[in-house]
Amino acid sequence: MSDLYIGLMTGTSLDGIDAALVDFSAGRPHLVDALCAPLPEALRAQLLALQSAGHDELHHAALAANAHSRACAAAIRQLLERAACRAQEVRAIGNHGQTIRHRPELGYTLQIGNHALLAELTGIDVVGDFRSRDVAANGQGAPLVPAFHDALFSREGETRVLVNVGGIANLTVLPEQGNVTGWDCGPGNVLMDAWIQQHLGRSYDADGAWAATGCVLPELLQALLAEPWFALPAPKSTGRDLFHAGWLAAHLTGRRDRPEDVQATLCALTAQTIADAVHSQNPAALYLCGGGAHNAELRRMLSCELPQTRITTTAELGVDPDWVEAYAFAWLARACLLRQPANLPAVTGAQGLRVLGAIYPK
Ligand SMILES: Nc1ncnc2c1ncn2[C@@H]1O[C@H](COP(=O)(O)OP(=O)(O)OP(=O)(O)O)[C@@H](O)[C@H]1O
Ligand SMILES: [Mg+2]
Repeated sequence: MSDLYIGLMTGTSLDGIDAALVDFSAGRPHLVDALCAPLPEALRAQLLALQSAGHDELHHAALAANAHSRACAAAIRQLLERAACRAQEVRAIGNHGQTIRHRPELGYTLQIGNHALLAELTGIDVVGDFRSRDVAANGQGAPLVPAFHDALFSREGETRVLVNVGGIANLTVLPEQGNVTGWDCGPGNVLMDAWIQQHLGRSYDADGAWAATGCVLPELLQALLAEPWFALPAPKSTGRDLFHAGWLAAHLTGRRDRPEDVQATLCALTAQTIADAVHSQNPAALYLCGGGAHNAELRRMLSCELPQTRITTTAELGVDPDWVEAYAFAWLARACLLRQPANLPAVTGAQGLRVLGAIYPK
């Protein structure tokens, strides 16, 4: 008997819907298949517009949530067809939704997506709104992947550090002994994506090739690193609420830098803030996942910052770096149905363990 779940992730990069089909029936979960369905351009624009305050945003958010769920249902149809799997065989979908506000300090975080509509369109139970319960318990509601990283990637007698380089970069420390820890390190790809879009009209800097043609600007890098958020102790999390094109523009006022040098500096900002977080752990290897794992220039900079640490990806641990996040939301959906707590208070700062998610039956 199989025990199948689907995880859906639409992250801060707004690049696409990652969908993973996972089978939990054997002792160790198994990734059956996965795909990334590009976000339809109109939906991407809608979601991007909702990242900042605007006119009649409740109405626009509701419409975007519907469009998001339709796109998710299409991605699921494609995934199930490819895997020759019927919807009835899937126990639940873990749907992260699209974050449009993340303000745990004010007691809320908002991921949109019409879970009722997704249940209607797919005929599968949907679990959504994974972050709110942790926030209600005074946690950051993020990162949520460390418990999953622990379940899948921990190895006794070895400290392992994982960094997911999505729009935002988040780190998990799986120590040789003691508590798993984790926190958001800062921007992953979000600023590099915004800058190359603005200058070259491309959605991302493939392999970091453009950044590699530039020179890091040390004073600009120091000015960016002076952002007070970086000095905050964990638990901490962040998003587009803080790190967006306007944040960067404010730092560039009055400067006349070459755009490629700014790109190199943004890449260095991501590398430096990850290295600062990893440094004290002194791990033998750093396992990257998320789209940023493909950025060769970022990996080169990380190697320079962490000469004692081998920079590799989760592929070495048996999971393609592109599917770790979607895989995590399949795992989180299962944890919810089984009423198993899935937050780590040491990571999020919540008052205690909590079952995460809201169930929308098919
Ligand atoms: N070949 C590549 N070279 C450089 N960067 C890449 C490459 N492929 C993907 N990326 C980067 O990865 C980003 C997408 O990463 P990913 O899907 O992991 O992030 P996300 O959707 O923001 O998810 P999350 O924030 O939840 O981790 C792209 O926007 C791009 O910046
Ligand atoms: Mg993505």
